[in-house]
Amino acid sequence: MFIHAGISVVKLFISTSRLEPMLIHSASQLLTLAGGPQRGKALGSLGVIPNGAVVIRDEKIVAVGTTEELRNAYPDEPTLDAGHCVLMPGFVDPHTHIIWAGDRANEFEKKMAGTPYLDILAAGGGILSTVRATRTASIETLMAETRPRLLRMFRNGTTTAETKTGYGLQTATELRLLKALLALNDESPMDLVITFLGAHAIAPEYKDNPQGYTDEVANTMLPMLKGWWETHAPRLPLPFVDVFCETKAFTLEQSRQILTQAGSLGFPLKIHADEFDNLGGASLAAELKAASADHLVVTSDADIEALGKSDTVAVALPCTPFGLAESHYTPAKKLLEADAMLAIATDCNPGTSWNESMQFAIALACRYMKLTPAQAIAAATINSAHAIRRAATVGSIEVGKQADMLILSVNDYRQVGYRYGTNLVKQVIKRGQVYSVDVGYYRTA
Ligand code: NIG
Ligand code: FE
Repeated sequence: MFIHAGISVVKLFISTSRLEPMLIHSASQLLTLAGGPQRGKALGSLGVIPNGAVVIRDEKIVAVGTTEELRNAYPDEPTLDAGHCVLMPGFVDPHTHIIWAGDRANEFEKKMAGTPYLDILAAGGGILSTVRATRTASIETLMAETRPRLLRMFRNGTTTAETKTGYGLQTATELRLLKALLALNDESPMDLVITFLGAHAIAPEYKDNPQGYTDEVANTMLPMLKGWWETHAPRLPLPFVDVFCETKAFTLEQSRQILTQAGSLGFPLKIHADEFDNLGGASLAAELKAASADHLVVTSDADIEALGKSDTVAVALPCTPFGLAESHYTPAKKLLEADAMLAIATDCNPGTSWNESMQFAIALACRYMKLTPAQAIAAATINSAHAIRRAATVGSIEVGKQADMLILSVNDYRQVGYRYGTNLVKQVIKRGQVYSVDVGYYRTA
C-alpha cells in the first residue's frame, strides 16, 4: 500500500473484497469484442452474447458463454450477478499526457477570447508553461497531482492507459516523470503503458536552435533512456517513443531523425501528426511501422491511403478539437473506407483536453466523427489495445485474456455514446478484482 500525505491510495480506489475465482452471470449483453483488431469497415463487431456470462480464475478469463451454459459447466463457482446490465471489456485509453503539474485555466480563457493554440505556444506559453511548472515540481507533487486523474480514469472505466512524459524537455525532468509513472503504475490497479515524449516541444534552452534539441533527443536522450529503462524497469517492455510532428514543434525531417534513431534502438514508435497542419507525419508513421499515428485532423488523402495499407493504428482524439472549440475532427469515414484501423483516446492533458473519460470521447466520436456506438466501442477497446500493442492481453473478453471488464448501469450498449457527461460504469473488474464505482445512486443487482 502506498501512503501519501496520510491518505491510503488503496482506499481511494475503493476495492471490494471480492475474491476469485468467480462466475459473472446474467449480463443483458456481454460484449466480447472477440476476433482481434477491426480494420476498416469491419469496425463495430461487438460479438454480443445475450444473457452472457464469464468465468475468471487467477486474474484471467477462463470461460465465456451464456449464463445457462456457464452455470451448468461451473456449478460451484462463487457468483457475481451482472443484474441484466451490459458487461464489456475495460476501456483502453491509448493516448494521454496524464502527468504534469499545475493547470492552464488562464490560457483557456485566452483561447476562448480568440488567441490560437499555436500562437500561445510560440509566445512561450502552452506546453512550455506546463514545462515550467513540471520542472519545478517534486516527484511527490507530480504523483499527488496525477493520482486523482488516474482515479477518475479508472472510475470511468479505463483499465489500461498509455501515459506520456513530455513536460520535462530536459533529461533530469523527463527521468523524474518516468520514475513517477513507474511508481504510479505499481500503486494503481490500472496498467500504465509508458511513452517517452522528450520531443513534445522544442526545449526553451534551444528556442533558436530546434535542430540542436532534435540532435539532443536523438543522440543523447534516447541512448540514455535505453540503458535507464533496462536498469529501472527490466521486466517491462521498452516504452514507446513519440514525436509532436507539427509546425512550431518538430518538422517532418526532425521527426524522421528521432523516430529512426528510436527504432534502431528497439523502441516501438508513435507520432502526433496533423493536429493543426499536414506535414506528412502519418505517412512517415506507416513507413516506419509505428504502432499508431495520433490526432489526424488535417490528414491528406495520400496519408490516409498509407495508413490504410499499414498496421499503424489511426488514433482519433475527439476531445481535443472539442477542448479547443474547433470544428474539424478526424475524418473517420475516409479512414475506414481506406481500410485503416481506427482507435479513440482522450488525449488527457492540461492544454487541449483535460478529460479523463473514454465515455465522453465515445460520445464525441459518435456525433462529430459519425461513428455508431458499436464502432466507437470497438475503437475504444480492441483497436485502442492494438494502438499500444497490447491486443494480445486486453481489449476484449476472450479466454486467456486478462480479466479487465466493466459492468455498466444500463442494459443496452447503445446507451454508451447516446448519453454523456455522466458515468455509466457501475463496477470495474481489473485483473479479476472487483471495484465498485457505486456511490449509492445505483442499486447493485
Ligand atoms: O496532444 N499536441 C501536443 N500535445 C498535446 C497538447 C499538450 C498541451 O497543450 O499541453 C495534444 O494535444
Ligand atoms: Fe497528445
